[in-house]
Amino acid sequence: MRLQEAKRDFYRQLAKRMGFKSRAAFKLIQINRKYKVIKPGDVVVDFGCAPGGWLQVAAEVVGKDGFVLGIDLKKVERIKGNVVTIVADVTDANISKIILERLPRMANVILSDLAPKVSGIWELDHIKQIDLTRKVVAILPQILNKGGSAILKVFEGEMINDFIKQVKEIFKEVRIIKPKASRSGSSEIYLLCINFQGSN
Ligand SMILES: C[S@@+](CC[C@H](N)C(=O)[O-])C[C@H]1O[C@@H](n2cnc3c(N)ncnc32)[C@H](O)[C@@H]1O
Repeated sequence: MRLQEAKRDFYRQLAKRMGFKSRAAFKLIQINRKYKVIKPGDVVVDFGCAPGGWLQVAAEVVGKDGFVLGIDLKKVERIKGNVVTIVADVTDANISKIILERLPRMANVILSDLAPKVSGIWELDHIKQIDLTRKVVAILPQILNKGGSAILKVFEGEMINDFIKQVKEIFKEVRIIKPKASRSGSSEIYLLCINFQGSN
């Protein structure tokens, strides 16, 4: 077994043992342990939330005074805590309205772990993935509080520098991070975006 497969297997089994819906949960645990993006009482929106590992982690951190809204094309089984999930497409023209109808207040944190159905043709998958994540970035002024944060997954490729530039225009600080639980050969990275500048 190659090292990367062994690592994936390790996190998959650990997720099963600990009751997490996906091994992806460990990526958010590792990011949040280090950067404290999500805090107790926060309102969090999680794009591409199925099967729900990130929702479980976020719900645990925000606690009873916080709220987590998950959005995915796929239905998600009930998650413990203050969590609501909706089946919706991030490319829907009304997506910000659909989200705002469910939120108790504007969000403090936006999570996006969106991934398209991969074709295996990396350049194509990269373009599709960045396009999806751009949809999230486009609606941030409607759903994210000024001063808020975001964690955005992106597939590496030729569009990445343009995308990072776009994100840097609306956040004070943008860092490229790769949690240990993310496979080193996977070409996915995460953008840690801090201090959203708001719509004006
Ligand atoms: C890597 S998975 C997310 C894993 C999740 N973070 C977890 O912890 O369980 C990516 C998700 O993006 C969703 N997705 C892809 N395209 C989407 C779209 N247009 N709108 C909403 N969700 C989408 C997929 O259905 C898939 O469940």
